[in-house]
Amino acid sequence: MDCRIKFFSLLFTISLLPAATSVGPPLRETPKCRFSPQYSLEDVLSDSDAFVWDLLYWEGHFHQNNVGYNQANGMTFDGTLLDPITGTANFSGLHPFSAASKESLHVMILAHAVAGSSFAARFLSPEEPQSTPRIAYEILEKKLKTYVQFNQTYPGFGGFLPWFLSNETDIRPTLDWVNRVPALDNGELLWAVYGAVQALERSNQSEFTDLARGWQAWLDYTKTTATEVFYNGTGRVCAVTAIGNQSEPLGGPDQSYMCEGNQTLNDPYEGELFTWWLYLFSDLNTAKKEELWTVKRTQVVATEWHSNTSLGDVTVQKGYWFSSHEQWKLLEMPYTDVLLIKRIFHNAERARTCNSFLNGVPGMYASVNNVTDESGQILGYISNAGVPSISFLPVQELDVITPYSVFPTVLFDRNVGLAWWKNMVDGKGMQNLYGSTESERVDGAGISSFVSWDSKVTTVAAILGGVTDLVRDKMKEDGIYDTFVEVSQREYTLAFGDRLEGEDVELCLPNVGVPDTGKVVDYESCR
Ligand SMILES: *[C@@H]1O[C@H](CO)[C@@H](O)[C@H](O)[C@H]1NC(C)=O
Ligand SMILES: *[C@@H]1O[C@H](CO)[C@@H](O)[C@H](O)[C@H]1NC(C)=O
Ligand SMILES: *[C@@H]1O[C@H](CO)[C@@H](O)[C@H](O)[C@H]1NC(C)=O
Ligand SMILES: *[C@@H]1O[C@H](CO)[C@@H](O)[C@H](O)[C@H]1NC(C)=O
Ligand SMILES: *[C@@H]1O[C@H](CO)[C@@H](O)[C@H](O)[C@H]1NC(C)=O
Ligand SMILES: *[C@@H]1O[C@H](CO)[C@@H](O)[C@H](O)[C@H]1NC(C)=O
Ligand SMILES: *[C@@H]1O[C@H](CO)[C@@H](O)[C@H](O)[C@H]1NC(C)=O
Ligand SMILES: *[C@@H]1O[C@H](CO)[C@@H](O)[C@H](O)[C@H]1NC(C)=O
Ligand SMILES: *[C@@H]1O[C@H](CO)[C@@H](O)[C@H](O)[C@H]1NC(C)=O
Repeated sequence: MDCRIKFFSLLFTISLLPAATSVGPPLRETPKCRFSPQYSLEDVLSDSDAFVWDLLYWEGHFHQNNVGYNQANGMTFDGTLLDPITGTANFSGLHPFSAASKESLHVMILAHAVAGSSFAARFLSPEEPQSTPRIAYEILEKKLKTYVQFNQTYPGFGGFLPWFLSNETDIRPTLDWVNRVPALDNGELLWAVYGAVQALERSNQSEFTDLARGWQAWLDYTKTTATEVFYNGTGRVCAVTAIGNQSEPLGGPDQSYMCEGNQTLNDPYEGELFTWWLYLFSDLNTAKKEELWTVKRTQVVATEWHSNTSLGDVTVQKGYWFSSHEQWKLLEMPYTDVLLIKRIFHNAERARTCNSFLNGVPGMYASVNNVTDESGQILGYISNAGVPSISFLPVQELDVITPYSVFPTVLFDRNVGLAWWKNMVDGKGMQNLYGSTESERVDGAGISSFVSWDSKVTTVAAILGGVTDLVRDKMKEDGIYDTFVEVSQREYTLAFGDRLEGEDVELCLPNVGVPDTGKVVDYESCR
């Protein structure tokens, strides 16, 4: 068996939850922007507390007005381009848009901030940690106002969010999302808000519990609209719904909903978060709810990752690309309460880390923005990055790695996950005034001079243990926890039985760094 301390990060976070007054690692001087190379791999592996403290401090600098979010409306910005030489952000490089998935990361951090986590305080308000719950409350209040206003202006969305322009006080759909709405991102958002409601309710302050009721009303509204907007009959859920007219009310005579194209949301990965919302809360009858699982059952597939070495084989759930992004659902719902699922997802990290180790790759893979060119523009988005040998879609582009690929590893072993994060971030230009940089080429020939929620805050959320503790407690109060455990256990048992190969394999560690080719140098503002 893996003899490292398992689930340390989860336990540690639980102990911090009631903890406005809790002891974090001792306050030290402001860490250096370029702190990562100051630590050795052994430092991080033996005790990552100090490293985490520095990481949270700098990633938190992304959370500032006109970089990661908009103070005027409490909404996220997708991210911002950095000057390739200086590393500073500049308003003309801001992505003025965002989506429900980025909102989910923001809300997860805010939930922990409300709950008194000293880690969330280090991220949000390191100079004045005691104000953190208040700061989070104010952002959540503003955010809810923006959501409610959006629902009034665009009632056709049924309360859900499309990709939206976030640079004005009132948000509106981006041009390419007029009359369209995605299920996957909204599923991520719903469970994050569910966790935040629990944190607000628990605080016992009347203002906070009032705000909990406001958010609960928003959640409750989506329970009444989810079927109409996304359910397509016979177990099919639209991946993207085409709305007749976003300005017309749902249920009105001039409104309609259809799946766009043939794409249905039947993935057993992060898209499943939306399936659970329909299953646990919608008005569908029992037979129709069961169909939601039958149509996606064939996609839950057990497969073997072959090391082709003495490490042997490791049984994993077949990935789409096996991008780390696919594990997002572990940040939100308490899947790992089911022992079999915990074992399967732990195995996934054995395969992920050892695949990079055995192939001499200095980091791991996840869907991410490509590198930027000389003029500082992003070359494209690389969706198809993961582990080809254990994926449905094995045609992949494997020239770019990203720090956030470690987030699912962090959920199982914080030190090993952060050792990989350090190994990637030690690459030239991979730290900046807002924390880690988006991505880098494995051959050291380029980086993506960009910062974003996806590539940064997934790791922060994993360090916080996701919101699964909050979500579990509320699910118990809502009387849906046992059903969740039973159904998820049933679906994974059908595909896996009980026998998994490779549970004695240790998570692997990096054995090569990103080469210094001289083509990339550290940012002037972060050396
Ligand atoms: C901001 O970006 C614009 C356009 O890319 C550029 O002209 C300007 O020099 C940049 N400003 C700073 C302070 O980097
Ligand atoms: C927000 O972004 C959109 C799209 O880039 C642009 O048309 C609009 O002028 C921007 N608004 C503000 C206030 O900057
Ligand atoms: C809120 O009140 C409950 C019941 O009185 C108590 O158990 C809990 O510790 C309180 N929570 C906080 C954060 O003060
Ligand atoms: C959303 O708008 C509809 C009217 O179209 C309203 O009935 C509903 O209460 C609103 N939901 C929220 C959460 O504000
Ligand atoms: C399902 O979506 C298709 C388009 O993909 C549409 O033609 C059909 O009307 C929809 N059916 C229901 C019941 O929503
Ligand atoms: C959509 O609905 C709004 C509000 O009823 C209306 O003003 C607009 O003309 C409609 N758009 C189209 C294309 O029918
Ligand atoms: C949509 O799916 C159906 C059933 O799987 C198939 O027969 C049809 O060809 C598909 N249409 C398109 C446009 O891909
Ligand atoms: C083991 O060999 C198979 C078949 O050639 C290949 O697909 C897989 O990537 C190899 N495993 C590793 C860890 O390289
Ligand atoms: C990423 O950039 C490389 C050049 O560095 C290019 O060869 C590749 O096609 C790009 N891929 C995407 C999806 O943008």
